[in-house]
Amino acid sequence: MCGIVGYVGPRPALEVVVEGLRRLEYRGYDSSGVAIIGPDGVLQVAKKAGRIENLDKEIAARTIAGSTGMGHTRWATHGAPTDRNAHPHLDAQDRVAVVHNGIIENFMVLRAELEASGVEFASETDSEVVAHLIAAELARNGGDFPDAVRAVCRRLDGAFTLVTLDTSCPGSIVAARRNSPLVVGVGKGETFLGSDVAAFIEFTRDAVELGQDQVVVITRDGYEITDFTGEPVNGKHFHIDWDLSAAEKGGYDYFMLKEIEEQPAAVADTLRGHLVGARIVLDEQRLDNQELRDVDKVFVVACGTAYHAGLIGKQAIEHWTRIPVEVEMASEFRYRDPVLNRQTLVVAISQSGETADTLEAVRHARQQGARVLAICNTNGAQIPRESDAVFYTHAGPEIGVAATKTFLAQIAAVELVGLALAQARGTKWGDEIAGEFEELAKIPAEIARTLDCVQDVRALARDIASSKAVLFLGRHVGFPVALEGALKLKELAYMHAEGFPAGELKHGPIALIEDGLPVVVVMPSPRGRPLLHQKMLSNIAEIAARGARTIVIAEEGDTAARIHAAHVVEVPAVPTLYSPLVTTVPLQVLAAEIAQARGYDVDKPRNLAKSVTVE
Ligand code: F6R
Repeated sequence: MCGIVGYVGPRPALEVVVEGLRRLEYRGYDSSGVAIIGPDGVLQVAKKAGRIENLDKEIAARTIAGSTGMGHTRWATHGAPTDRNAHPHLDAQDRVAVVHNGIIENFMVLRAELEASGVEFASETDSEVVAHLIAAELARNGGDFPDAVRAVCRRLDGAFTLVTLDTSCPGSIVAARRNSPLVVGVGKGETFLGSDVAAFIEFTRDAVELGQDQVVVITRDGYEITDFTGEPVNGKHFHIDWDLSAAEKGGYDYFMLKEIEEQPAAVADTLRGHLVGARIVLDEQRLDNQELRDVDKVFVVACGTAYHAGLIGKQAIEHWTRIPVEVEMASEFRYRDPVLNRQTLVVAISQSGETADTLEAVRHARQQGARVLAICNTNGAQIPRESDAVFYTHAGPEIGVAATKTFLAQIAAVELVGLALAQARGTKWGDEIAGEFEELAKIPAEIARTLDCVQDVRALARDIASSKAVLFLGRHVGFPVALEGALKLKELAYMHAEGFPAGELKHGPIALIEDGLPVVVVMPSPRGRPLLHQKMLSNIAEIAARGARTIVIAEEGDTAARIHAAHVVEVPAVPTLYSPLVTTVPLQVLAAEIAQARGYDVDKPRNLAKSVTVE
């Protein structure tokens, strides 16, 4: 949450910073702001509540020059999303400027201490304390800027990425991180900072990850990293394997629509290279085969859409390995006392690799002795760094706030993890594993076919856009798909939407059915799951009899599904465990189209941000 950009180099800093903020706006869009050190050494600050367009207007009326600067796009935690609370925040002398992502948990104590010494605060944020503390430290230590930042970091509790300017050091920026992300972009004669690489991808594809509790000083000539005590440390270099075009809309109205279309490639790229001979291989495996063989219990921990990928993965892992699997929301798992030991494998799924609850769940699991395997779309993020094994999804950057292509890539990845476990435990023969992999490898083409058939969904979406609510029903792997369809609709179209296992209907939810209520049914395959298919036909009949408008996602050729369905959306027939990779697609399109029909911003739904780095 919150996007941060920093720049030192020969270009006009304002342009680089504002462009970077535009690319990071998906991280938060309650307000935005910039601070640039002018040629006269004076801080120039512009900040505005609302989207970056508001900041653009503010900046257009002024001349802001300088080649060292930073910016921030905010997802509000402490303090309402107003101009006053927008970042950057300054000290009383306008010498120090600070932007912050995260939550400073002890800010009340620090603020009280500063107020007692006569400091007046200009905002209600937790972040402003940092500017005043750095100023006080500079006064105390004789003006050593990096040292002042390190000293302040040692006093802070919670999660923070900080980027700070001191007008006495106009050619450098000092930044720090704990539990929130920060990467350095290394150019020729210029250096960048960003919450993620999208901030500077236009200028350089060489980057350096900053580790936990580290401080970096950037200048035009490069960067120096230390820990919070000042001990030098080496950063981890990496090359970004995607380019600017991947982070742009490429002719689509919304990133989300582009990302839905990119799903065949996201799944194909995620599978690529993981079958070597007849063996499944993970990306980073700091677990030996014996440890995988010893696993007797699996927990999948994740949040939101990633949790739904876990529910689908459970079906595959249990089926192939016979190991019991529990899927739990990371925010619940981390605060209870789950039974964990060295034989427990915790699979943490997070596209960003930053989600605060999932990260804490990983830490909790490792403290209890469990092994952790991360599934992540972001190279070098905190969750994979702290895990024993990693499987990277290769969906490319996902800018739309609602997860789409990363979800499908997560499903493919967790299913491969299931095959890797089956291989280690010998519950499947090598040729069976290779056979499953080959079936999975055919799915990207089926996703592409699904995308070709969703035209009708667009018309349907306009038709039901004024409904009060939509229900989603599924069974087996169709149930998490129903949950995902409902989540997409809630977050994009702000409609009441619920997903239920169809078998639960008569235990309460059927009371919600009223005349004309749209109910989306994810139909089991008549060939793959004939019994469930039969049960679902009865469920459709029951709700249709009570007035529901039934929209059925059914396999091609499922003539029985048409009998009570008001609308049928056909998807290709694929093996049951892989069917969510196709049945999810029309539900994503439905949600995006309804949101558009209702006039909402599909890429930036209200109150949300892409990475949830605070609890
Ligand atoms: C919904 C959505 C969220 C995320 C959740 C976890 O469309 O995007 O529910 O899935 O916040 O995020 P990651 O995968 O980054 O941990």
